[in-house]
This record gives sequence, structure tokens and C-alpha cells, in this order.
Amino acid sequence: MGVTLLTGATGTLGSALRPRLSAAGHEVRAASRSPPDDGGTAEWVEVDLATGAGLDAALDDVDVVVHAATAPRGDTEAVDVDGTRRLLTAATEEAVENVVHPSIVGIDDIPYSYYEHKLTAERLVADSDVPSTVLRATQFHPFVHDLLGAVARLPVWPLPTRFENQPVDVGEVADAVAEYATVEAAGRVPDVGGPEVESVGELAKTYREVLGVRRPVLRLPLPGSTAAAFRAGHATCPDRAVGTVTWEEWLRKHRAGAG
Ligand SMILES: NC(=O)c1ccc[n+]([C@@H]2O[C@H](COP(=O)([O-])OP(=O)(O)OC[C@H]3O[C@@H](n4cnc5c(N)ncnc54)[C@H](OP(=O)(O)O)[C@@H]3O)[C@@H](O)[C@H]2O)c1
Repeated sequence: MGVTLLTGATGTLGSALRPRLSAAGHEVRAASRSPPDDGGTAEWVEVDLATGAGLDAALDDVDVVVHAATAPRGDTEAVDVDGTRRLLTAATEEAVENVVHPSIVGIDDIPYSYYEHKLTAERLVADSDVPSTVLRATQFHPFVHDLLGAVARLPVWPLPTRFENQPVDVGEVADAVAEYATVEAAGRVPDVGGPEVESVGELAKTYREVLGVRRPVLRLPLPGSTAAAFRAGHATCPDRAVGTVTWEEWLRKHRAGAG
């Protein structure tokens, strides 16, 4: 078996993938712009997908790529679209056997610019000469926690309470992604969603109870097609509620310092 390149190795998903891939016997080469700060045993290489710096060397002797890099708060076009294109070109030259691409549930139904870039990236992967595996997941618990936490600091809590969500444990997504990190590309594989579909209002209620937030929730009626798509549940996959860790369980663990 050759080397497994993990892009986005320091991210929420990448950090959960590193130990899993190593435990499964992969020789992991972790890539990102800054090194992991949690030690770990994997080799680390500096790669900037927005410029392509470090990419060719990172792909030396690689037969599987797990592409978990993304820039939701940065230049998503440069990283998620152009960076994915650069990665695929280098992977084709190296005759990589499988590019495993984690993606997001609902990106073809929700007109939101980050999701549009993710959809373009997903199509680049699927249409590439490199064999690939695409796995979509619903939103990770820490992402939902950070979104709610950001507004919980205001005197009132303005929330789009009717948005539908299905938060999932990032470890469970990493388990699924790691299973597909083999030399057998599998194409588009079944989505991975959390155990429960809940509205943002319900998620906020649990957040208040578990974390002791007392601020009143202010229903934020958001206009537009993006908000309508979130209200219609397009970010969820109730038929693929395969995750087992509920929002409440994750919050309680997180509060105790283990999340
Ligand atoms: N978060 C969610 O709720 C969620 C849900 C479903 C699917 N996903 C998907 O899961 C994957 C991982 O998401 P995540 O939430 O783990 O992301 P994340 O926590 O934001 O981590 C992003 C990673 O990408 C790296 N990165 C950013 N810009 C880069 C650049 N220019 N060049 C190279 N590396 C760069 C970051 O490291 P440096 O900054 O050090 O470079 C970091 O390791 C993505 O495909 C995402 O779409 C996420």
C-alpha cells in the first residue's frame, strides 16, 4: 500500500481522520498550511491549495487521497474549486487510485455561495480521470455549536428557528470516510446524517438547557430562497439518519470537556 494523503488534516474532520487512518494501517501524509498542534505520529507536509505550493511533492508515492480541506470562512473559490482542480491534476499525474471527497448534504438544493462552490468541487471530482468516492454528510456538532454560540453572546438570541438541521458526530463521519479510504473507488456513496432532524429552535432549546443560556430567543424571519431551502429541510437526509450521537449527548460531553 502506498501513502494516503490527507488534505485539511488539521480541520474538524481531518483531526478526527488522522488517528483513524493511522489505526487502519495507512501511512498517512497530513497536509495543511499550518502543522497540527496536537502532535500525532503522521508525517506532515505544508500545502497551500489556493496557490498549489507543495502539492506535487505532497503527492509523491500516494495512492489514496482523502480531500478534507475546505475554506468556508476564506476564499472558497480559490481553495474549494481551484484548489480541488489543482489537486485532481496532480493526482492524475501520480495515477492516484481513489480521491475520497467529503461533501455536504443538500448542496444541489440550497443556493448559498459556499455550497455552490462545494457542488462545483464535487462535480470536478466526479468528472475527473482519477477514480473517486464522494460522501456527503450533514452538519457536524461543533459547527452548529459555534453558530449558536456566536449569537448567544448578544442580549437577545436572534435565530432562524424554523431552519431544519440534522447534526452529526464528526467521529462517526470520520469512521465512514476512513472505511472508503481504500484503492477501490466507490463513486457517490450513501449520505451520513445525524440521528435526529430538528429545527434550529429545538436545537437552541437544548443548547439553553444544557449550557444554561438564559437569553430570550428572537425568531428571525429570513427572506429569500436560501432560507426557504433550509426551512424546507434540504440540509437534512432523514432517510440516512445513521449517526447515533444526539445533539444533547454531544453538548453534555462537550460541556464536560470531552466534545
Ligand atoms: N463542518 C461541517 O459541518 C461539515 C458538514 C458536512 C461536510 N463537511 C465537509 O467536510 C470537510 C472538512 O470540513 P471541516 O469542517 O473539517 O473543515 P475545517 O474545520 O474548516 O478545516 C479546514 C481544513 O482545510 C485546511 N485549509 C484551509 N485552507 C487551505 C488552503 N488554502 N490550502 C490547504 N489547506 C487549507 C485547514 O488548514 P490550514 O488553515 O492550516 O491550511 C484545515 O485543515 C469539507 O469538505 C466540508 O465541506 C463539513
